[in-house]
Amino acid sequence: MRSLQFCYPILLHLFLFHLLSHFSSPLPLCRHDQSSALLHFKNSFSLNSEASHWCEEYIYHGFYDGHQASYPKTASWQNGSDCCLWDGVTCDTISGNVIGLDLSCSWLQGTFHQNSTLFQLTHLQTLNLAHNDFNFSPMPSHFGGLQSLVYLNLSVSKSAGKIPSTISRLSKLVSLDLSRNYDLRIEPFPWKKLIQNATNLRELDFGVTDMSSMKQSSLSFLMNLSSSLVTLSLSGTGLQGNLSNSILCLPSLQILDLSFNEDLKIQLPKFNWSTSLKHLNLLSTKSLGGNLPDSIGHLKSLNYLALSNFELPGTIPPSFGNLSQLTFLRLRACKLQAPIPLSFWNLTQLTSLDLSFNNFSGQIPFSLSNFQQLTYLYLYGNYFSGPIPNWMFDLVNLTWLDLSSNNLSGHVEFQQFSKLKNLQYLDLSNNKFLSISFDGCANYTTPNLQSLFLSSCDINSNFPEFLTRLKNLKVVDLSNNKIRGRVPKRGNDSEHYSWITLNLSYNLLTSISDLSMMNIEYIDLSHNMLQGDPPIPSSSASFFSVSNNKLTGDISSAICNASSLEVLNLSHNNLTGPIPQCLDNIPWLLDLDLQMNHLSGSIPTNISKKNSHLKTLKLNGNQLVGPLPQSLVQCKQLQVLDVGENNIEDQFPSWLDALFQLQVLILRANKFYGIIPSRFKIKNPFPKLRIIDLSNNFFSGPLPTAYIKNFKGMKNVDKDTIGLNYLGNNSTDTNLVYFDSVVITMKGFSIELEKILTIFTTIDLSNNLFEGEIPKVFCELISLRGLNLSYNRINGTIPNSLGNLRSLEWLDLSTNKLEGEIPVTLTNLNFLSNLNLSQNQLEGMIPQGKQFNTFPNESYAGNSKLCGFPLSRKCNKDEEQPPSEPEKEEFGFGWKAVALGYGCGVIFGMVMGYVVFANGKPEWLVATFGGETKKNGEKKDEEQGQCKLHHKKLIRNLSY
Ligand SMILES: *[C@@H]1O[C@H](CO)[C@@H](O)[C@H](O)[C@H]1NC(C)=O
Ligand SMILES: *[C@@H]1O[C@H](CO)[C@@H](O)[C@H](O)[C@H]1NC(C)=O
Ligand SMILES: *[C@@H]1O[C@H](CO)[C@@H](O)[C@H](O)[C@H]1NC(C)=O
Ligand SMILES: *[C@@H]1O[C@H](CO)[C@@H](O)[C@H](O)[C@H]1NC(C)=O
Repeated sequence: MRSLQFCYPILLHLFLFHLLSHFSSPLPLCRHDQSSALLHFKNSFSLNSEASHWCEEYIYHGFYDGHQASYPKTASWQNGSDCCLWDGVTCDTISGNVIGLDLSCSWLQGTFHQNSTLFQLTHLQTLNLAHNDFNFSPMPSHFGGLQSLVYLNLSVSKSAGKIPSTISRLSKLVSLDLSRNYDLRIEPFPWKKLIQNATNLRELDFGVTDMSSMKQSSLSFLMNLSSSLVTLSLSGTGLQGNLSNSILCLPSLQILDLSFNEDLKIQLPKFNWSTSLKHLNLLSTKSLGGNLPDSIGHLKSLNYLALSNFELPGTIPPSFGNLSQLTFLRLRACKLQAPIPLSFWNLTQLTSLDLSFNNFSGQIPFSLSNFQQLTYLYLYGNYFSGPIPNWMFDLVNLTWLDLSSNNLSGHVEFQQFSKLKNLQYLDLSNNKFLSISFDGCANYTTPNLQSLFLSSCDINSNFPEFLTRLKNLKVVDLSNNKIRGRVPKRGNDSEHYSWITLNLSYNLLTSISDLSMMNIEYIDLSHNMLQGDPPIPSSSASFFSVSNNKLTGDISSAICNASSLEVLNLSHNNLTGPIPQCLDNIPWLLDLDLQMNHLSGSIPTNISKKNSHLKTLKLNGNQLVGPLPQSLVQCKQLQVLDVGENNIEDQFPSWLDALFQLQVLILRANKFYGIIPSRFKIKNPFPKLRIIDLSNNFFSGPLPTAYIKNFKGMKNVDKDTIGLNYLGNNSTDTNLVYFDSVVITMKGFSIELEKILTIFTTIDLSNNLFEGEIPKVFCELISLRGLNLSYNRINGTIPNSLGNLRSLEWLDLSTNKLEGEIPVTLTNLNFLSNLNLSQNQLEGMIPQGKQFNTFPNESYAGNSKLCGFPLSRKCNKDEEQPPSEPEKEEFGFGWKAVALGYGCGVIFGMVMGYVVFANGKPEWLVATFGGETKKNGEKKDEEQGQCKLHHKKLIRNLSY
């Protein structure tokens, strides 16, 4: 109000001036037909502020364009007044024709009709309808009639359909922006014609429209782009194919954005770069080969350069230091190598520097105080060694610092960061030789710190209490350290307070507003040496993990006050007592992991309620008794259910077959009993099941043929059809991504799969009382990786058709009553690396060749009538031929091959996934994958996009 009063004289003055100018040089009034066309246009839409919702966040090419005022410009349009004075309307001063219309961010909502009266304004030269909501109506073909248009902007307007071919008539266009209409399709023909005809184009932005129907030949048309082109954005359009790099040589080009076209390939030119280039964005676009050319040093105007997943094997050329205007540099996951040329450190204008996920090594140079402007510094995922250089602690403008996953060493006193008052994000995790201590942090404050990742930083102390004073802290990861003792906590009546708020009270910050400021959302204290009762997360926490500590005592029902929790992980501690009855009070709980404790009592029947979102429930390795509560059937989203290794006494929970999302079912080592039913109520039971482990129970009767027949999830799953992904990696559901892990028995060892690849499928029915023959239906499970039927009472012969299970890697039929010969078809199992047929009544000659040349004697022990290699017992008929060279290597078998098979696109994918669980560390695993490979796995995975490993990395990505 005050500002209005203040403005009033000025407004009045302007108004008078306007009136005067009308009298002194009479402007022609708006023409009646145009006025009425405008009013019709206005009335064809409703006004809704939501329609221009995004105006406030308008960011163009990484540059913040400032706010655009969002208000309904047409609201003031009145019939009878001169339309040339209307908000957003510009008239020609001589003819009075409407030549400009700017209704961007004007709350327009509704269908843009083909017959819209807008198209009667044929003198329009500039038209801006950006940031409105046209309800996904097809872009009208009448646009082609507005042939005077020089400027057309329909970005973020929910325009849809094909761009009409008539658009090519707009030959005078200088600027065309149709960006961010993801349902708008741009097809080759109109596109070619447009480029041919609009020879004056200077700005073209089709970012985030659909250009996926462009083929290689339409791409080459880009070469016809006007040489006057200044700005070209085709970001996220689904363009594919090889693009000639002459686009980077268009003489006037200043801004080029081809980012996020994963199937588009381009090579950086060796000569003739457009030297006017200021902004080059090729994030997630692919390289056609070559390295970072020396000639890049000619781009003297370049201030923004962003490449990621763009392979440039080799070094950064010394000429790079000439890019003295560079303020933003991202060369992430580009396979760049050391050394970084000295000239690089001359880029003193940099405010954002990202060299993460490359192969840089050596020390980060010292005595460098050049980077005073730096606000963002990302060097993670390299091999940088040596201590953190001192100059980093002087970068007073730094807000984000990520040095994680390097080989940094030395000792850091955390208070060295105290100069960095702007710091919001700090990640020093996973530097093997780095240690951090918090001495002298008593008065430490970084008021803006929001995210702190100090995982695996050799922290060897009590819980760093000063953290509880950092009011803006939202994300804390102190996992994998040696933090001892109790998490801070007040005495008796502590139950209703989180550990965070409790500490605040210790520090006398007791007012309510202070408490509400504490909104830690993510706390990972896993893999430490914490003792005492399990701490209670604050009510704003959505991720809470204290797994793998030495916590004792009962789980207090106060934990249910943490009602924002999505992930609750108390696993691998020494917790006792029952599971709290109130967990159904946490409405958005997705993952509950209480495995490997000493919890007792029965599983609460109300562990879930009707709208449960639970996806993962892991209660294995406790002392739970009683039946499995049928209320679990309400968890329609359940993907992983692991109640293995308890004392649960129940029949097979057939009612679970209605959980269509269930992928992992583990009932191992309980007291389940009885015959598994062969009839069921629903048509497709367990359609997505991939891992089923019923081993070590008392199930009896025939093998569950009817269910096996329906395991659709084990038939024909391959990465091409379902996409290679990890279970739980579905970031659309939640911004806290949590990968599921389970323990399974694989190749005779208990192994924890840290992440379950969705192509991983196994059946373990071992150590029960199953009887009868092996049903032929097994042969339909052609994606099965492992099958274990050992220690049952199975008789009959091994079906020939098992040879169809081409993906099988381990097969254990030992200790049964199988008879007859081993089918020769089993030699078709090219990936089989582990076979156990011992303790049966098999007879005849062991099949020879391929994988069968690699199995040891023990595979066949206890079958007195078997003969041939590798047994010393010769077969009667013909003399056994000693096998030639084992074909192991030739076929790429063995563990390595297996790991490759699971790899994320290329090589290292599954390496990290197989973490050997305590009771067995097979030599072969250590030999192949010990030590350094782990890091590689991590790195490559990150690059592969789909296979991200660390949930925190994901958070990081989301935070950008
Ligand atoms: C345009 O067509 C729509 C139906 O497609 C009709 O409802 C509307 O009245 C027409 N408007 C004009 C101005 O002719
Ligand atoms: C090119 O533009 C001119 C002038 O607007 C127009 O007459 C002609 O039809 C356009 N050509 C194509 C192929 O659209
Ligand atoms: C860095 O800049 C300084 C001064 O601007 C110059 O003298 C030096 O040669 C440059 N270093 C390199 C390696 O280009
Ligand atoms: C920090 O940033 C501010 C503006 O953001 C700038 O004025 C100042 O010079 C920077 N500090 C240093 C040491 O460069």
